[in-house]
Amino acid sequence: MSADPAPALTSTLHLDETLADARVVVLAGGGGVGKTTTAAGIGLGMARRGRRVCVLTIDPARRLADALGLEGVADEPVQVPLEDGADGELWVVMLDAKSTWDGLIRKYADSDEAAERVLQNRVYKEFSGAVAGTQEYTAVEKLHELLQSGRWDVVLLDTPPTRNALDFLDAPQRLHAFIDSKALQLLLKPASGGIGLIGRGAGMFTGLLKRALGVDLLSDLIEFFGVLGGMSQGFSDRARAVQALMAEPRTVFLLVAAPLPESLAEAARFRSILRGRDIHYGGLVVNRVTRADQDDDEAAVRTAFGAHLDEDVATRAAAMHERVRSQAAHDTAMVTAHLAAPGEERVLLVPQLAEDVHDVAGLDRLGAHLYPVPVPG
Ligand SMILES: Nc1ncnc2c1ncn2[C@@H]1O[C@H](COP(=O)(O)OP(=O)(O)OP(=O)(O)O)[C@@H](O)[C@H]1O
Ligand SMILES: [Mg+2]
Repeated sequence: MSADPAPALTSTLHLDETLADARVVVLAGGGGVGKTTTAAGIGLGMARRGRRVCVLTIDPARRLADALGLEGVADEPVQVPLEDGADGELWVVMLDAKSTWDGLIRKYADSDEAAERVLQNRVYKEFSGAVAGTQEYTAVEKLHELLQSGRWDVVLLDTPPTRNALDFLDAPQRLHAFIDSKALQLLLKPASGGIGLIGRGAGMFTGLLKRALGVDLLSDLIEFFGVLGGMSQGFSDRARAVQALMAEPRTVFLLVAAPLPESLAEAARFRSILRGRDIHYGGLVVNRVTRADQDDDEAAVRTAFGAHLDEDVATRAAAMHERVRSQAAHDTAMVTAHLAAPGEERVLLVPQLAEDVHDVAGLDRLGAHLYPVPVPG
């Protein structure tokens, strides 16, 4: 007998409806909750519904990347073959922060020659590959580029596992603020009637830096920040464009969370940030929810199994069933508590599948839960 019968939970987020007019779908959430898998699964579902879809993915699991044809391909969208002659198209592209940066430098530098100098600059090489936040920045940058190409009806953006929603949303503005900062300007730009600190060359400051960094590295630094400063307007325009794109009605944010208190709390925080900025929040995907097929308790299951199996096997099977049932009750309680708090209107429950999702067939299995209603027509 069950002391705590789990109340039935049903999904209230219907992707066909919520994403009907979407041009950009951003999947965000904590680390490891299933953002990449969900982005690919939704992308496949949309392609099966006749849309030309590109999924911009970040660091997918190796096997999924290989299955989608991303092996060794940097920065160029590849088409995933869909065997049953669907009208739509599914493309995937893996974010490569360095080549996105290189593209930006080529675009905004004053001349080809200046661009080449920056690309060879040692400080730039370190910066483009390693600086925290550049992945967030290049993700939105690449998204912008994909949309501009006009090749896709909808682009799904899988995001890096951010600790803080603002890391991602504010990356373009932060970068611009840094390039435009007073400190940097002071260092580089000729002040009224004089030259900037670094430009003065023989000042104590540069003397110190030279001793600390070595002369070559100092000149690389000056050159790098000098060129970056010159690109400030380009970055500023871009930051504004990206911000506008994020706030467009046809850009929909979906959050992904695990059925765990901290993950759901994180989603609630992210949601209120989105709402505070008038960003279109589509709903929450709660991924890897354990569902019990039936609510019979352990004794009843053992009796039922006992009719077909030997006693020992029936006992172990019933115990396993009980563990699943109690996990299901736990997950249901977590989601129910989350829904009881104000603010969450739409959730989509996606079950824990028997295996990891590492190919198109797995994405279709996931898709059956993301899109419980079959492809129309
Ligand atoms: N519903 C599910 N059932 C079974 N396995 C799943 C499910 N959802 C995701 N997985 C598996 O969980 C693992 C992590 O998923 P995924 O890479 O999509 O998470 P992520 O949020 O993108 O992670 P990260 O924050 O590291 O980018 C993958 O191996 C994936 O196959
Ligand atoms: Mg991921």
